[in-house]
Amino acid sequence: MKATAKANTNIALIKYWGKRDENLFLPMNSSISITLDKFYTITTVEFKEKLDSDIFILNKNIESNSERDKVSRFLDRIRKRTGTNLHAEIISENKVPTAAGFASSASGFAALAAAASKSLNLDLDKKDISILARQGSGSASRSIYGGFVEWQKGIQKDGQDSFAKPLLSEKDWNISILSVVVASKEKNVSSREGMKRTIETSPFYSGWLSTVEKDLVMVREAINAQDFERLGEVVEGNALKMHATMLGAEPPVLYWQSGTMEVIHYIQSLRLSGIPVYLTIDAGPNVKVLCLPTDEKRIYESLLSLPSVKEVITCHPGEGITYL
Ligand code: PMV
Repeated sequence: MKATAKANTNIALIKYWGKRDENLFLPMNSSISITLDKFYTITTVEFKEKLDSDIFILNKNIESNSERDKVSRFLDRIRKRTGTNLHAEIISENKVPTAAGFASSASGFAALAAAASKSLNLDLDKKDISILARQGSGSASRSIYGGFVEWQKGIQKDGQDSFAKPLLSEKDWNISILSVVVASKEKNVSSREGMKRTIETSPFYSGWLSTVEKDLVMVREAINAQDFERLGEVVEGNALKMHATMLGAEPPVLYWQSGTMEVIHYIQSLRLSGIPVYLTIDAGPNVKVLCLPTDEKRIYESLLSLPSVKEVITCHPGEGITYL
C-alpha cells in the first residue's frame, strides 16, 4: 500500500497549448519535449485504513485545501478504477522552482501517477502511466520517458490513444539546456486558464493549429538526424508563436517580464555572432536556452552577467520515471 517514485520535469520543444477535452486533458495538438536531469519530484503515496481524507505534504509543509484537492481529484480516478475508498498520505519533495514557468506539475503528476498506481498494485505499463499522468497535467504524460519524447494527441474520445512515446533516449544525444531564472515569483495566470482563454478568444489560435503539424514534422526530423541548428530554429519559432496566440486573447495573457526580453535579445545577438544557440519559453517569465555542450560554459557565464538574470541552471537530457 506504499510506493515511492521519482520523475524529472520536461521542457516542451513543440508546445502543448490548448485542450479539446478539459476533463480528460486531451490536447488540440501533439507536442515534443526533452526530459531534464536537474528538476524532479520524488513522491511517496501510502493508502491507509485510518484516514478520512487525503493528506498532501509538499516540501515538508502540509498543503492548503485547494492544493490537496487537486491531488485528491487525481487519486479519485485511481480509487474509481481499483474500487478502493481508502485515503492516502502523499509526501512530495519538489526540486523545481515552482510556478515560475518550470513545469513542476509535469514531474509532480508523473511521480504521483507512478507512485499511486504502484502502491495499489495496479500493474500499469509506461503507456498506461502516461495516460494516467496526463489526467493530472497534460505535460506530465511526457515525463514518463527520458530524453526526447512525443505526446501524441490521439483521436479517440476516451483518450486511450493520447499518450507519450520515446523518440530518442537521453543517452543518444546530449545537448545543453540552460534554465535562466529572471523572476521567481508565482505567475498570476495558470497554464490551464491561459490556454482556455486563448482557445476561446484569440484570433491567432487558428494560425497556431494550422502550422503546428509542420513544426512537429521538422522537429521529429531534426531529432532523428541530430541536427541541432534545424532543431533550434523550429523550437524557438514555435515558442514565440505560442506566446503570440496568448497576446491575442481577451484579456491578453503575457507571461514575459523585462528580464525575459533581455534574454531573448541577448540570445538572438549571440546567434548573429555565429554561435548556435536558441531559446524556448513556457507559461512563465523564465527562458530555457538550448546550446551545444561545447558552448555551454561560455554561454552560462555570459548569461549570468546580464543584469536581470538571477540564476542559471545547466541541464541535460534526463531519465524517465524510476521507483525508489
Ligand atoms: O500541462 P501543463 O498544464 O503544465 O501545461 C503545459 C503548457 C506549456 O508548458 C506552456 C507547454 C508544454 O507543452 O509543456
